[in-house]
Amino acid sequence: MRKQVKGNVTWIGYLDWELQTFHGDDYSILHGSSQNAYLIREGKNVLIDTVWTPHREEFVENLKREIDLSDIDYIIANHGECDHSGSLPALLKEIPDVPIYCTANAVKSIEGQYGKHGWNFHVVKTGDSLDIGNGKKLVFVEMRMLHWPDSMATFLTGDNILFSNDAFGQHYAVEELFNDKADSCLLNREAMKYFANILNPFAPILKKKLEEIGNLNLPIEMIAPSHGAIWRENPLQIVEKYAAWADAYQENQITIAYDTMWNGTEKLAHAIADAIHRQSPDTLVRVFNIAKSDKNEVMTEVFKSKAIAVGSPTVGNSILSSVAGWLEFLRQLKFKGKNAAAFGCYGWSGESVKVLQDKLREAGFTVVDESIRSLWNPEEEDLAKADAVAKALIGEKKMESDGQQETASAAGKDLAKYQCAPCGHIYDPAVGDPDRGIRPGTAFEDLPDDWTCPVCGVPKDLFHRL
Ligand code: FEO
Repeated sequence: MRKQVKGNVTWIGYLDWELQTFHGDDYSILHGSSQNAYLIREGKNVLIDTVWTPHREEFVENLKREIDLSDIDYIIANHGECDHSGSLPALLKEIPDVPIYCTANAVKSIEGQYGKHGWNFHVVKTGDSLDIGNGKKLVFVEMRMLHWPDSMATFLTGDNILFSNDAFGQHYAVEELFNDKADSCLLNREAMKYFANILNPFAPILKKKLEEIGNLNLPIEMIAPSHGAIWRENPLQIVEKYAAWADAYQENQITIAYDTMWNGTEKLAHAIADAIHRQSPDTLVRVFNIAKSDKNEVMTEVFKSKAIAVGSPTVGNSILSSVAGWLEFLRQLKFKGKNAAAFGCYGWSGESVKVLQDKLREAGFTVVDESIRSLWNPEEEDLAKADAVAKALIGEKKMESDGQQETASAAGKDLAKYQCAPCGHIYDPAVGDPDRGIRPGTAFEDLPDDWTCPVCGVPKDLFHRL
């Protein structure tokens, strides 16, 4: 249903109080969510984004109550993912010729999902604008890889609203729409959870993008994302939070995550928690059984932590599948600047600690030397090792992974492959980039300075050596 936002801008989205998961079942929704779409009625009538496919018919009916669809002059598609574009096919059946303003990548995304129907796309880039009458215009800002290649934000002059799409959003339903009406603790928690679980892999891009948006000198008075509360009161607070979160964020917290078979590894987890608290009472300690906890909530705690300890007993010469799956998710999130330790019980071969350490290194953590590897149930001498693990996690450690990267980058010209941090594309010198005139055999360091990722378009400095 329609809700007033500001001036001639209304919200025309979908509040979903029943949603429990998102991105399939990969993201937990604990306090509802929303897909926010907006209608601007100035000299021209503009629809910004739509709602998810299951709600398309209700969305189009609601829209019809607000406006004769043939009076819509422009659609702005800030992002092609189906939670924002999912109602386009139903809507465009009624108004097939309406111009759709979006990025070039959004055309690919929308046509890729819904087919080629000859829709009236108008491709825009950062700085392009669209006059909508009454002295107001829309200014477009590409938000590439925040969090998809096609993502874009749109700024409405006069009312000074930034329609930021996924950036600055939260999976949190607020009937009254605005941040000053929301439970501030829940709002901040959900904003952080969204950042930690969805945006953190793109933190290096986000830092640059925040600078770029700052350089545009947009007089932002309101930030209207595509999920959750609209930032009306002190809207730049969320921009400031993003700047801090994108910069290897951590608090004085250590998180312990484990799974256990016969409670031995659980005892080690509790011993490490107790030792941390004894040695550093100001350090917050959070303890989770991975198999029994919401993984997105645990990852939010990892995001806040300066160090983690991960435990698993040995099973099948490796680790429990619950821990293995969790570690894969941890790797994808690309946390930086955090220490880690491993612990676990075993009955005969005892590989789990080594496996955990290797996987933690792969995930970008600096693994401390101290660990606990306990045969059968932990004895006093095993539990006593918790003191050394705690001390190592509390203390400051030099970034092992950063050092490795520096060594690599100083290694001189070679033909190593490089991977794009945001999208995962691998540049292989043996192949080059022939579509753009880069011949096979061209080392990554010999690529032109203005070369960009052929998949997501980010610059060279967001690639890392494999
Ligand atoms: Fe809210 Fe990337 O979709």
